[in-house]
Amino acid sequence: MGAANGAGEIVVLLGSPGVGKGTQGVRLGRDLGWAHVSTGDLLRAALEEGTALGTEAARYMDAGELVPDDVIVDLVREHLAAMSPGRGVVFDGFPRTVPQARALDRVLSGAGRSVSRVCLLEAREEVLVKRISGRRSSPNGRVYNVHFDPPMRDGVCDETGEPLIHRADDRPDTVRARLSVHREVTGPLVGFYEARGLLARVDGEGDIEAVYRALRAAVLG
Ligand code: AP5
Repeated sequence: MGAANGAGEIVVLLGSPGVGKGTQGVRLGRDLGWAHVSTGDLLRAALEEGTALGTEAARYMDAGELVPDDVIVDLVREHLAAMSPGRGVVFDGFPRTVPQARALDRVLSGAGRSVSRVCLLEAREEVLVKRISGRRSSPNGRVYNVHFDPPMRDGVCDETGEPLIHRADDRPDTVRARLSVHREVTGPLVGFYEARGLLARVDGEGDIEAVYRALRAAVLG
């Protein structure tokens, strides 16, 4: 089921807010030469650019709610169309609903491709809340943590020297809303992919290295 050599694989990372999808997805993409596609990052980039889509999406993101499926699917479709055909992809934060998963299938089948593996990163809620409270993000997608993975210089990205950002949706009330949306709306996706024999569960509670080793093995195994 997993990739033999990584060419053309489509991997989906599933899991609660703060579990490490971004941290691991960026690394997996660099390691295997795949594109890392985070819908959260695409939406934040649209907001930063001041597009209508970004402004509209921010209303949902600030409330910890999901952005409507049609908006997300269009965004992903455009992004994939601009990518070299056949490149491996690791999706982070997409799909997040069963309708998004079905839409992804349709988009991929148009290109003769399909999802090859879905990795569910798992951690207890108290671990997630502590991780999110310490998160600081670089505009280039690299994620740090003041408790577990600090930058060399306080508040500054090691790779680009840019100031690190404390995400607007990491306020405690918004985090609670995001965790609850994940349980109720994204939870059913686990059964959807399990029924297709695509799901691998990965313990997300170890340190970043240990989780990466387990994830890589699940993707390539
Ligand atoms: P998005 O940006 O996707 O956020 P999320 O899913 O809530 O996930 P996070 O980014 O919070 O967590 P993560 O799992 O990536 O963890 P990270 O690696 O950063 O989405 C934001 C919003 O956009 C959504 O709420 C929604 O409104 C909208 N949206 C996005 N996609 C959508 C879609 N498909 N449909 C509809 N709406 C959508 O790690 C967290 C912290 O922990 C970091 O500081 C990291 O350094 C640290 N850390 C990671 N792993 C470890 C470890 N093993 N040990 C210790 N610390 C660790």
